Amino acid sequence: MEAGDWDRKYAGKELLWSVEPNRFVAEGLAGLPPGRALDLACGEGRNALWLASRGWRVRAVDFSSVAVSRARELDREGAVEWEVADLTRYPFPVAEEDLVLVSYLHLPPEPMRPLLADAARALAPGGTLFFVGHDLENLEHGTGGPQDPDVLHTPEAVAGALEGLEIVRAERVTRQVGERAAIDTLVVARAPGA
Ligand SMILES: C[S@@+](CC[C@H](N)C(=O)[O-])C[C@H]1O[C@@H](n2cnc3c(N)ncnc32)[C@H](O)[C@@H]1O
Repeated sequence: MEAGDWDRKYAGKELLWSVEPNRFVAEGLAGLPPGRALDLACGEGRNALWLASRGWRVRAVDFSSVAVSRARELDREGAVEWEVADLTRYPFPVAEEDLVLVSYLHLPPEPMRPLLADAARALAPGGTLFFVGHDLENLEHGTGGPQDPDVLHTPEAVAGALEGLEIVRAERVTRQVGERAAIDTLVVARAPGA
């Protein structure tokens, strides 16, 4: 989907996602000491705002200007640095971030793999990369998310793209959505040299 498609999707609803952070993000990152964080494809900012409320200095990027304006409105205290940019052409920082978060970003392998490699290189020594997204297995055994297999994730593919990082977790996790379970890829990785 292009930025304009996402803009239309966001514009059609008051709030497309929840105000609360994703539950895996909250569970997985609550114990991490705050530092500098980069939220990739932040959407309306639910995770970035949660991180900022916990003391993180957050830069949050998304190519939908509608989503980012909404995030800015929610961020009444101006706690997060918001940026509208296409992550497939983004000047990633190198060795600067204590946390890089990727939550439900779905792109075909060609932009996705190099983007993950850039995200890995953005981590400072000892920094954490946290990835969650709809898993390929949803097509047969789960529910929700994109229906195009090309943009769905597997723990193996995500972990394999994180060059130079130590893989701490690479697994499938489930969320109950109504009567069905949605299957997510969850990967946590760490940069060497803490
Ligand atoms: C499913 S939403 C997830 C939003 C947020 N991470 C969350 O978990 O609430 C996917 C987001 O990816 C953004 N996105 C998709 N492709 C992008 C790209 N190439 N550059 C920047 N953002 C992109 C969309 O605009 C959308 O906000």
